[in-house]
Amino acid sequence: MLDKIKRFFGDWENQSRYMKWLIRYSKPYIPQLILIMLLGIATTFASIGLSLIGKEMIDKASGGGEVMNTVLLYVLVVLISQVFSVISTLVVVIVNEKFAFGIRKQVYTKVLDTNWLEIMKYHTGDLMTRLTSDVGIVAEGISSTIPAIIRLSIELVATFCTLAYFDWRLACASLVIAPIAAISSLWLGKRLKLLQIKVQESESKYRSFVQESLANILIVKSFCAEEYSENRLTALRDERLHWMLKKSRMGLVASTVMGLTFQFGYIAAFAWGSICISRGEITFGTMSVFLTLVNRVQGPIIALAEYIPKIVAVLASSGRIIDLQKLPEEEKQTENIRPEGIGVKVEQLSFGYTEELVLKDANIEFRPGEFTAIVGESGVGKTTLIRLIMAFTNTAMGSIQFYNSLGECEPANAKAREFIAYVPQGNTLFSGSIRENIRMGKLDATEEEMYEALRGAAAYNFVMSLPKGLDTVIGEKGHGLSEGQAQRIAIARALVRKAPFLILDEATSSLDEETELRVLEGIRNWTPAPTCLLITHRRSVLQYCDREIQIQNRELKELK
Ligand SMILES: Nc1ncnc2c1ncn2[C@@H]1O[C@H](COP(=O)(O)OP(=O)(O)OP(=O)(O)O)[C@@H](O)[C@H]1O
Ligand SMILES: [Mg+2]
Repeated sequence: MLDKIKRFFGDWENQSRYMKWLIRYSKPYIPQLILIMLLGIATTFASIGLSLIGKEMIDKASGGGEVMNTVLLYVLVVLISQVFSVISTLVVVIVNEKFAFGIRKQVYTKVLDTNWLEIMKYHTGDLMTRLTSDVGIVAEGISSTIPAIIRLSIELVATFCTLAYFDWRLACASLVIAPIAAISSLWLGKRLKLLQIKVQESESKYRSFVQESLANILIVKSFCAEEYSENRLTALRDERLHWMLKKSRMGLVASTVMGLTFQFGYIAAFAWGSICISRGEITFGTMSVFLTLVNRVQGPIIALAEYIPKIVAVLASSGRIIDLQKLPEEEKQTENIRPEGIGVKVEQLSFGYTEELVLKDANIEFRPGEFTAIVGESGVGKTTLIRLIMAFTNTAMGSIQFYNSLGECEPANAKAREFIAYVPQGNTLFSGSIRENIRMGKLDATEEEMYEALRGAAAYNFVMSLPKGLDTVIGEKGHGLSEGQAQRIAIARALVRKAPFLILDEATSSLDEETELRVLEGIRNWTPAPTCLLITHRRSVLQYCDREIQIQNRELKELK
């Protein structure tokens, strides 16, 4: 038994951390949350008032008295409570939206600032689920669940006191449902949390699959994998349904137990009231108050118990969001060295994604203005070396120091990317216009700067021949352009930065030899000459390079 209790509270540290996190996030919304709560409380008091006015009405009518004024008062209170309810709904919508956006933006920024290698451990579909579904659950929890719980608790106390004023025995009897609700909630809590996590995990898998198969629809079609994909989708849906049903079943058992207890409570109040009327101890009006108030004491207890799954869902989703917030942030210097003649010195560099090292005690210096080709077999670690220089991960051993011709230096860090222009391997264009894509390289680039970059990337002629020129809209991953055209736009995006340090990772692999050489020659003729690292598998490129470095057996070797 002790073990069971321990297990239940074992997760308490996490839960309280999640709660603290929620409270911290709710702080800016406290005035609105208080307003929602006050409106809820006012509605509660209005409804207690309605049962008392109802009693007056019945008593007056059965005594043959005038009821017109009481009816008018009743109508007025109904109208007021409706107005409160409308205002409350509106405020809930606003808080919900603002709160959700607040967290979403914060988590999104956090994801962008996270160490790349760490964030890549999550599937984009999973990140999307956390940013949308989980954030939605938490926002809904804050804007409606928490004020509702406080309001229900106040409603419970107020109605209990009113009922006790008329008959304390009945008031106590109406609380019988409380321990049943408490026990079933405790019993449910832990199980529901696990199920809720499973539901969200299966949601993540489901979304990841949909997102990935839609992004790669060409592969699905090429391999005639439509049926396979549909079957996988159904299987993932079934998995999600399985956990959803399990969760619902558990909730259903608890609510049936409580529903039955509720019915018995009502029947008991009815029977007790009837006996009192037959003895002449109470009026019909008091009987009506009994029945409504018993309802109103038990109602909040049941509603509170029913909020348990929601609280559990909020805590589970908070945990999934906090997981992202705990990810290590990138190291970022506050200021860069001046971007004049940038070189980089790599010393005793060792790194592996797993325990197996990709680079071991590597030493190299890329001097200002030098063109260096980095060659080596596929999978040997060329892109990895670039990732380390770009500080996409900081788990490497050894040192990577940038320096400039003025004698200043700084270690590889996220801010150093400001003086680097990078053309990654593969198609990395965004959907949108060509202009938007190029401006990603330099947000305030002028038309002339963009044209110059396009010329440098041998893309000017083809872009200008498009009916809408720079405003031509391209699809995801450069859809609408050929592979080589997309690559040239990616090069223009990097060139527009006019950065003193340029990295081209097989950036010209889809270009014909002539165009490739034209691009490289153009870059070579820049003044001042940038420092350029060029990963390539093509020998013809080497003629433009001052040096050739080969990666082999986890080491860097100078070939030229
Ligand atoms: N995110 C990752 N997690 C684990 N291992 C990785 C990851 N990225 C790359 N690797 C491994 O690291 C090694 C080096 O990969 P890298 O991408 O640097 O090769 P490369 O020399 O650029 O190859 P290519 O010429 O094919 O582009 C490979 O064995 C690869 O399997
Ligand atoms: Mg590579």
